[in-house]
Amino acid sequence: MRYAAITGCGMAVPDRVLTNAELEKMVDTNDEWIVSRTGIRERRVAGPADSTTSLSVKAARAALAHAGLTPDDIQLIVVATCTPDQFIVSEACLVQAELGGSAAAFDVGAACSGFVYALTVGSMFVQQGLYDRVLVIGADTLTRFIDYTDRSTCILFGDGAGAMVIEASDQPRGLLSTVMGADGGGNKHLYAPGWGAIVPESAELFPEIRPYMQMNGQEVFRFAVRVMGDAAAEAVQKAGLSFDDIDMLIPHQANSRIIDAAARRLALPREKVLVNLDRYGNTSAASVPIALAEASGQGKLNEGDNLVLVAFGAGLAWAAGVVRWGVAGVPRPELAARRGAGVLAAISDGD
Ligand code: UT7
Repeated sequence: MRYAAITGCGMAVPDRVLTNAELEKMVDTNDEWIVSRTGIRERRVAGPADSTTSLSVKAARAALAHAGLTPDDIQLIVVATCTPDQFIVSEACLVQAELGGSAAAFDVGAACSGFVYALTVGSMFVQQGLYDRVLVIGADTLTRFIDYTDRSTCILFGDGAGAMVIEASDQPRGLLSTVMGADGGGNKHLYAPGWGAIVPESAELFPEIRPYMQMNGQEVFRFAVRVMGDAAAEAVQKAGLSFDDIDMLIPHQANSRIIDAAARRLALPREKVLVNLDRYGNTSAASVPIALAEASGQGKLNEGDNLVLVAFGAGLAWAAGVVRWGVAGVPRPELAARRGAGVLAAISDGD
C-alpha cells in the first residue's frame, strides 16, 4: 500500500490586525456581540503588498523548510482558493513562478472546504503512484471582497495561507479517509455576485451587482452544524476508527458555536479541539492548514496521532478527512532524525 504522509507544514498571515474595537468604529456592532456569537476577537487583513500569491508562497516556503525539501523536489502544486489573484492563469502557476521548480500546477475551487478537497486530490496522486512529492496550499484573501459597511459579514473574515508537503510512505500516514459533499442548490446562501464570466442580463444593472460577499448567516449556520458533525463522524467510521481513537479535531474556523456542535457530535472534550479563530477569524480555505501548522508548531501533534479535519462553506460544500500525523514510512531517514532532534518542529511564518 502507498500512503501520502504530511511531512511539512507552514502558514502565513498578513501583518495588519483588525480588532473588534476597530470594527465598532466602522459598523453598528460591538466586541461583546462578536465574541459571544462567533468567538472572533481579531483577524488579519491583507495590505497593499499582500496577495493570495504572496501569502501562499510564504506558507509554501515554510512547509518546504519544515520538510527539508526545495521547490525542485516538488512534482505537483495544488492550490485551494476562491480568491485567486487572476482568473487566467491559475493561482498554482503564480505560486510556482515565485517558488521556482517545474511542478505541475492547478487549482481546486471549493471555497472554505477547498483545503480538504485539495488534500484529497493531492493525496490521491501520491497514493496512486503518479507523484512522490506534492505541495498542497489553502489560501484566500476574502477581505478583498468584503463590504465593510455590512456588519453581518465584515466581522467574520480574515486572510491567510497554509501549506502542506505530502510524500509517499509505506506506512499508514496522511489521509486515511475522506468524505466530500455538496448541495449546489444552496449556492444562493453564500456567494459573491458579478465576479465571473457571466454576462449580466442588462448592462444598466451591472454596476449594481456588487462583487461583495453575500450571506444568509442563519441558513449557513444550520447547514454547517449538520454537515460538520455528520461528515466528521462518517470520516472516522470510514477510517475504521472510533471517536475514542481521535486525538484532535481541526475544524474550519468559522464560528465557535459551530465548532462546539461538531465536537459534541464526536464526543470530544474541549482540549482535543483546535480553535484559533479568536486571532484569525474565518480565513476560508486557509483556516484548516493554518490551524494544523499552528498545532504542529506548538508541539501539539505526535507521530501516529489521528486528526479529524472538517470544513464547510460556499457551494454549499463540505469535506472531512481523517489524517494520521507523522513521517513513518517515508524513505528519507533524515526526516525522522530532524523531527527527533526537534529541528524545525514547525514554522509559523507571521511576517
Ligand atoms: O465559511 C463559512 C462562512 N459563513 C459562516 O460560517 C456563517 C455561519 N453563520 C454564522 O456564523 C452566524 O449566523 C452569524 C455569526 C453570521 C450571525 O449570528 P446569528 O446568531 O445567526 O445572528 P442573526 O443573524 O440571527 O442576527 C441576530 C441579531 C439581528 O438583529 P435583530 O434582527 O435580532 O434585531 C442582527 O441584525 O444580531 C444582529 N446582528 C448584529 N449585531 C451586532 C447581525 N450582525 C451583527 C453584528 N453586530 N455584527
